[in-house]
Amino acid sequence: MKQKVYMYQKFERLWHWLQALLIFFLALTGFEIHGSFSLFGYQNAAVWHTYAGIAEVILFAFGAFWFFTTRIWKAYVPTTKGLIDQMMFYAKGIFNHEPHPYKKTPEMKLNPLQRLTYLAFGFFMMPLMIITGVIYVFVVDGTIVISPFWLSIIHTFGAFLIIAFVITHIYMTTTGHTILADTKAMITGYEELDDEEHHHHG
Ligand code: HEM
Repeated sequence: MKQKVYMYQKFERLWHWLQALLIFFLALTGFEIHGSFSLFGYQNAAVWHTYAGIAEVILFAFGAFWFFTTRIWKAYVPTTKGLIDQMMFYAKGIFNHEPHPYKKTPEMKLNPLQRLTYLAFGFFMMPLMIITGVIYVFVVDGTIVISPFWLSIIHTFGAFLIIAFVITHIYMTTTGHTILADTKAMITGYEELDDEEHHHHG
């Protein structure tokens, strides 16, 4: 039995895809600034990166407001319950076509591994990038608060963390019902849940 469930509200979907676009653009312009490749031209990359960075600060603030003023934060409270099962599933069970160990609902849509990862993303990785990025703007302006060397090390380290997150995240999106099912759900808001599989076999 399949059941259509409204999983992602409009704001969540809009936030998600804007965040994806911005992070992609920040990584692209950021690594051009870093000297990894030449694409837009250094000067353009530097200016656009700062504008995108400011847009990111605003988008992040809207996300934080949504997070703290709705009950959505409840889904992010970390737990060790089921964490090992979830890890074992991605390491092994998934290759044996075992059912997903976590039963997703619109209220509790994050499995224990997602809770930890998204918490690290929202409370560590993005704040790290935003704080160092905003300080960077002042360094570039000539107001040095922290050695640009360390700033550069931390901001670039954070960029690698976020890219690792994005790569893992995109792989994970393919592990739903079908390869594109989870992506479709984040576009339309609706997800088809397989009642039987999700409830009983795990
Ligand atoms: C996902 C988020 C972000 C990524 C992946 C990212 C990536 C990068 C990278 C790789 C660099 C080059 C660092 C170096 O080689 O020293 C950089 C520089 C910089 N970033 Fe970010 N960044 C992000 C967010 C932000 C934010 C939110 C701001 C805030 C305004 C910001 C402002 C800056 C500035 C001002 C520079 C230096 C530009 C220059 O030297 O002209 N970044 N970023």
